[in-house]
Amino acid sequence: MAHQKIIVLDFGGQYNQLIARRVRECGVYCEVKSYTTPTEEIRAMEPIGIIFTGGPGSVYDPKAPQADPGLFQLGVPILGICYGCQLIAHNLGGKVTAAQGDTAREYGKTETFFDTACRLFKGLPQRGITWMSHGDYMEKVPDGFSLTAHSEHCPNVAICDEGRGFYGVQFHPEVDHTENGTAMLRNFLYEVCGAKGDWTMGDYKQAAIRRVREKVGEGKVLLALSGGVDSSVAAALVAEAVGSQLTCVFVDHGLMRLNEGDEVEKAFSKWDINFVRVNAEALFLGKLAGITEPEEKRKIIGEEFIRVFEAEAKKIGRVDYLVQGTIYPDVIESGLGDAAVIKSHHNVGGLPDYVDFKEIIEPLRMLFKDEVRQLGRELGLPEYLVSRQPFPGPGLAIRIIGEVTKEKADTLRQADFIFRDEVAKAGLEGTMSQYFAVLTNLRSVGVMGDGRSYDHAVALRSVTTSDFMTADWTRIPYEVLDRVSVRIVNEVPHINRVLYDITSKPPATVEFE
Ligand code: XMP
Repeated sequence: MAHQKIIVLDFGGQYNQLIARRVRECGVYCEVKSYTTPTEEIRAMEPIGIIFTGGPGSVYDPKAPQADPGLFQLGVPILGICYGCQLIAHNLGGKVTAAQGDTAREYGKTETFFDTACRLFKGLPQRGITWMSHGDYMEKVPDGFSLTAHSEHCPNVAICDEGRGFYGVQFHPEVDHTENGTAMLRNFLYEVCGAKGDWTMGDYKQAAIRRVREKVGEGKVLLALSGGVDSSVAAALVAEAVGSQLTCVFVDHGLMRLNEGDEVEKAFSKWDINFVRVNAEALFLGKLAGITEPEEKRKIIGEEFIRVFEAEAKKIGRVDYLVQGTIYPDVIESGLGDAAVIKSHHNVGGLPDYVDFKEIIEPLRMLFKDEVRQLGRELGLPEYLVSRQPFPGPGLAIRIIGEVTKEKADTLRQADFIFRDEVAKAGLEGTMSQYFAVLTNLRSVGVMGDGRSYDHAVALRSVTTSDFMTADWTRIPYEVLDRVSVRIVNEVPHINRVLYDITSKPPATVEFE
């Protein structure tokens, strides 16, 4: 069954992914497409509505991304956000100019007044805060449009042509700072576009399983399982679809967190698949002996990982399909517009090019991270696997400063476990994006009982962030830090000092190495 579809047409705005996520949260499937997508292609996708995103430019700038006038002839409702709103005005006979002085230029939270007779604002309060970020101003509204919102400085905050289903807002309904912003998007989807809300994860799961079955037929499928959310959910989905035709190779490099390898193995024991766990601790630690340079550690682990994986793949013989856990933000960031930002340095666990397989399957390619987690739950994966924080491919090797040894890894595992345990007990998990312990190479003097100690210092790190490109250190309550510290020095041998990292990113990075 095909889902109803909204197209988010990307004009280079910084919130394109957020708009798409909000639409899906409203139960409507959507895809982000570049503004350069031919209109015929868009028509063929049969969208029930189109949303123009914001963008960095001014519509009258000759180099600015323009909307194809044909889009307005498709007979499909359009909502323009910020720059998208100005595009509508510009294309349909209105006039957009640079705002003069304070008049009409607005940034940040702005009190706004709405005409609730407009379908976009139906059922909402007549005044509320919106998030503005525009330097241009709609001096003349196009014919056929009426004004449906204003603020103190700007008479033209929202426009609509109910007959044709064209709406424009100068503010950003997709960001949290806009009160009732999601309700406005919901109104556009349900009141204007006639959405039925047919995007549910239960349906998606069934359809995705069917697709994998149809594609794979009787073939053999291989997947490199890291224990992270994406590869685990991809594995669970393919396991559900083709069972024993799937082999999951889980390379345990001995640098995982406490009990992690066993937990991953246990979670997959309910499916009738071939699960290969390669216990390669000795191999990895052997290769890392004497290495202190962080990038060299990364390189060694990456290469070794590929070698071990290849050796396992060879034992299986020719495989037809390789599963990868690519998710939608990767697709959007790598392929859409001029402003694409790609994070590349983290691909430890990246797969060799020459494993013998016919085709790649990417069953999560159209899902956002929250949706991947939801799908994992639908598939019956345990919550601790589905909601887990990111964990770097090189694992604890880049959290042990200096040379990595088994003793150090064991020490760090215990300290890290205590930190996570206390965070969970305090109910703080949701407030921290990533948190872990680091074994520093600092040794210092302490007093234990009546004796002097000269032992290691552990550093605790926790950050709060939405994209990991920048991050703030988390203000963990002192009582929680205190409990963690007391437990670590009492329960973990050879630790006599606990430090808390209070640097944000930048200038620090999330990891210590
Ligand atoms: P940084 O330290 O660059 O971390 O601020 C940002 C995010 O990336 C993760 N990270 C890695 N992930 N291999 C990975 O798979 C790596 O080598 C690596 N280094 C950092 C880090 O855990 C954080 O989520």
